[in-house]
Amino acid sequence: MKKAIYPGSFDPVTLGHLDIIRRSANLVDKLIVGVLNNNSKSPLFSVDERVNMLKEVTKDIPNVEILSFSGLLVDFARQHEVQTIVRGLRAVTDFEYELAMSQTNRVAAPEIDTIFLNTSLKYAYLSSSIVKEMAMYGGDISKFVPAEIIHLVYDRYGINKNSSKEKGEM
Ligand code: COA
Repeated sequence: MKKAIYPGSFDPVTLGHLDIIRRSANLVDKLIVGVLNNNSKSPLFSVDERVNMLKEVTKDIPNVEILSFSGLLVDFARQHEVQTIVRGLRAVTDFEYELAMSQTNRVAAPEIDTIFLNTSLKYAYLSSSIVKEMAMYGGDISKFVPAEIIHLVYDRYGINKNSSKEKGEM
């Protein structure tokens, strides 16, 4: 069985992440999306919330499983007997960081390889921070995140989209 892990913070999941999930799920028998439970970052959404959001937006993809992890990615991969890590590359700026990370992982676990998918051009600019910045000020995030989670992001900032629109029009 060909298995892979797509790790990330997913705070929150974006359409760019979903694009990588769908395309990598096509390449393997089973794709585990690993949600990093990172104590050093202060995320907008708890790890359980991020896992639930991912479960909701991937419920139509049968070979995807959503799990959280803490600690080293290679340990998580070994625990699940996975030897392939998938990462998305949006632009050249991602490359240096991703290369260092994949090389570190390879030193730590030589049996594990990282493969890179180029993010679809229409999501190349996108990041979770951009989504948060837009949502915080009541901007339209419908082109950035899956429809199912739009209201969850606005709710987190206490934004009622209709009333903020009215304010903007005044
Ligand atoms: N579409 C949209 N946005 C994308 C994207 C895509 N295809 N790919 C990446 N991004 C964005 C994310 O939204 C995120 O944006 P933000 O910085 O605004 O939050 C940013 O790029 C970083 O991506 P992400 O995938 O969330 O990576 P990360 O840096 O948070 O986490 C891990 C990377 C989880 C793989 C890494 O930290 C890890 O393995 N940690 C475990 C500890 C470990 O093993 N360390 C050793 C490795 S050196």
